[in-house]
Amino acid sequence: NLLAQIQHLEEIFTVDTKKLKEITNHFVSELAKGLTVEGGSIPMNPTWVMSFPDGYETGTFLALDMGGTNLRVCEITLTDQKSEFDIIQSKYRMPEELKTGKSDELWEYIADCLYQFVETHHGDCSKMSEPLPLGFTFSYPATQNYVDEGILQRWTKGFDIDGVEGKNVVPMFEAALAKRGVPIRLNALINDTTGTLIASAYTDTKMRIGCIFGTGCNAAYMEDVGSIPKLAHMNLPPDTPMAINCEWGAFDNEHVILPRTEYDVAIDRDSPRPGQQAFEKMIAGLYLGEIFRLVLVDLHDNNDVQLFEGQDIAQLRKAYSLDSSFLSIIEEDPFENLQETFDNFKQRLNIVCTRPELELIRRLAELIGTRAARLSSCGVAAICKKKNYESCHVGADGSVFNKYPHFKARGAQALKEILDWPEKTDPKAEDPVEILAAEDGSGVGAALIAALTLKRVKEGN
Ligand code: BG6
Ligand code: GLC
Repeated sequence: NLLAQIQHLEEIFTVDTKKLKEITNHFVSELAKGLTVEGGSIPMNPTWVMSFPDGYETGTFLALDMGGTNLRVCEITLTDQKSEFDIIQSKYRMPEELKTGKSDELWEYIADCLYQFVETHHGDCSKMSEPLPLGFTFSYPATQNYVDEGILQRWTKGFDIDGVEGKNVVPMFEAALAKRGVPIRLNALINDTTGTLIASAYTDTKMRIGCIFGTGCNAAYMEDVGSIPKLAHMNLPPDTPMAINCEWGAFDNEHVILPRTEYDVAIDRDSPRPGQQAFEKMIAGLYLGEIFRLVLVDLHDNNDVQLFEGQDIAQLRKAYSLDSSFLSIIEEDPFENLQETFDNFKQRLNIVCTRPELELIRRLAELIGTRAARLSSCGVAAICKKKNYESCHVGADGSVFNKYPHFKARGAQALKEILDWPEKTDPKAEDPVEILAAEDGSGVGAALIAALTLKRVKEGN
């Protein structure tokens, strides 16, 4: 009867072409709705990044990247050679307890990391005459009336820190810098997707969309102000470009189109922000292992199923104890003996699996990973449809995109189905829309955006 279970899982986790197309069409209208005064569930945040780089930006900038997993500080020098830069960087661990701790502790920790970085690379902070310009990659939904402001709309990716939502994070950040005596001036606050978009466009003029498939999932693209009714009051020329941070993780918060399973419902219910980030909770790295875990616990607890019969699954019952790298290992394991999978279950969960159980586990990982990649492509296809891009490059970053097995191929296959591309005659030829890895995007993106902002200020725009 494990076979019957596999069949059932296939039914609930498979998203066929027809459904992908329906989701994409709904996505297109939701993107447009988010740009209107009334708004919709996708925030579609204007970022005040109003041009692509031309490759001739220059200057030295610090970049602080506060993503989901790491805190990264970089110093980037944009050289006078076209599209060339030098980078030095340090990674700091983002302590888990800070994500749900106190706001002051978060900013103080960040200020401390910056202090260490500046002291190491520039010497005594207290002796510096000029503050260093910084681009801050703050990868959460933020309202921006200016490029150097960010009013946090809500925490995502499991963060839950009181007293920050609804407030501009820049003064909090600056106060911590001042207290710690770090000579830094914030020039721009950006999202990781906008950083990825701009950094990718720096070296590739076909880039139109920046995506993150990591702990969270989101995209940014360049819109014309004339298509952004919520900016009509600014009286800008309609062809003015404006990068939009979609915050598409919030797609379908009203639950009208995504094929949610009972496990997706449970993830949402038990998250710090129920009702938020419906799309992200089905596809982002933070949740993939948890979906997998919930299914296995449910099957074990169902007396009709006989999964892990007679075994103590106490370890498996711990929420969020399996991350997406656990699924990556399973998907990469040669199917003939599934030895790594067996070992991981034994060592990490104290569960000894039978061969049929291993096969169910493998199929479940494939189903969850495939669903994530296919649903992600609906967002990419929706932006392409909205902008009438028949061919373009999409820059992508994040742990799921870079490390999860088959994610790229599955995503590309789904794009082909949604956008009805004909079979390629030359298998090596590019697809009309190619999703490409944006190596180390957002640090360089933050530096470029800081440079573009300074240029705009100098030109008086
Ligand atoms: C990094 C980018 O490589 O990917 C970050 O520089 C981004 O800006 C991150 O937030 C997303 O991936 P993950 O897996 O860390 O959430
Ligand atoms: C979450 C955040 C978003 C970010 C994405 C990827 O969706 O809300 O701002 O871009 O994760 O890191």
